[in-house]
Amino acid sequence: MYSDALKNGRKIFAVAPMIDWTDRHCRYLHRQISRHALLYTEMVVADAIIHGPRDRLLGHDAAEHPVALQLGGSDPAKLAEALRIAEAYRYDEINLNVGCPSDRVQSGTFGACLMLTPETVASCVAAMKAISKAPVTVKCRIGVDEQEPEEALPDLMARVLDAGADAIWIHARKAWLKGLSPKENREIPPLDYDIVYRMKQRWPDVFIGINGGIQTLDRAAAHLAQVDGVMLGRAAYQNAAILADVDHRFYGEPAVGADWNGLRDRMMAYVERHIGNGGRLQHVARHMVGLFTGLPGSRRYRQILSTDANKPGAGPEVIAAAFAAVDSAGERERVSA
Ligand SMILES: Cc1cc2nc3c(=O)[nH]c(=O)nc-3n(C[C@H](O)[C@H](O)[C@H](O)COP(=O)(O)O)c2cc1C
Repeated sequence: MYSDALKNGRKIFAVAPMIDWTDRHCRYLHRQISRHALLYTEMVVADAIIHGPRDRLLGHDAAEHPVALQLGGSDPAKLAEALRIAEAYRYDEINLNVGCPSDRVQSGTFGACLMLTPETVASCVAAMKAISKAPVTVKCRIGVDEQEPEEALPDLMARVLDAGADAIWIHARKAWLKGLSPKENREIPPLDYDIVYRMKQRWPDVFIGINGGIQTLDRAAAHLAQVDGVMLGRAAYQNAAILADVDHRFYGEPAVGADWNGLRDRMMAYVERHIGNGGRLQHVARHMVGLFTGLPGSRRYRQILSTDANKPGAGPEVIAAAFAAVDSAGERERVSA
């Protein structure tokens, strides 16, 4: 995937890994809106895969591809063991989390604090490369704490590339391991996109993707003039409708416009299957709440989804009712215009 993209000058648009957000239902939704965006799982800890419920942690719908599995861990042997298990699930990429600063993650000595021990990250990547048939990539910050990004970032990159990493995704800000919450660590340390661009100049033959604070597809396109990939997290989740233009803008597909009725029907069918398998509407509907942010009827849409989806016995008809609220508001607006 990455070597092809580099060879052919193809860019990659990705939706970031986000714990509690980019679960399989969210990814299924996003895939109905963009056929090509690369989707990431939530971080899955290697130990959990080894000891926990594998199907629940790794299972996904065939429709989700291309989909990348993000792993958390810092023990090469455990990461390798987790990957041996994960191979059966046929992810298109395996990504190592070197950017997540939560306390839970730090106590396991993985995530962003690995920026401090690049040699460990390199050993992890080498162990993962030895097992994985899919590309192995790293998602990192530009540094942590008092590190000097101009030194820490290229040092980490040189080592993981040496170990065989196929691409690097960089969240273009530092993380502070003490004193900031994970949320603050996504907002307070200043963004430095230029250092990511400089890494691309230094390693023109390496796939480098940029992440952090990118709100619109126009901004994404501007970054893609400098680097190979762009990754959106919060903007893609909170306003998934922006994904509707991704295939046209970044993958050369004709502009067909969003097919919201088709999306409604596909999500209703998906929910029906999910409920048939013992799941609940709410598992899926919670990711759909932000879909029409800013459009007429979106308040009513949100209200229907967030209240009615929780009621006992709620099924796909709630999705139909929510979409109808947007439709009829749109209709009223057209008539009064
Ligand atoms: C709710 C939430 C959960 C996140 N979980 C992860 C995670 O599991 N792994 C990871 O590498 N980054 C995680 N992140 C960070 C995002 O992947 C991304 O790097 C960050 O949000 C910056 O991108 P954005 O400004 O486009 O949102 C998470 C972010 C959010 C908002």
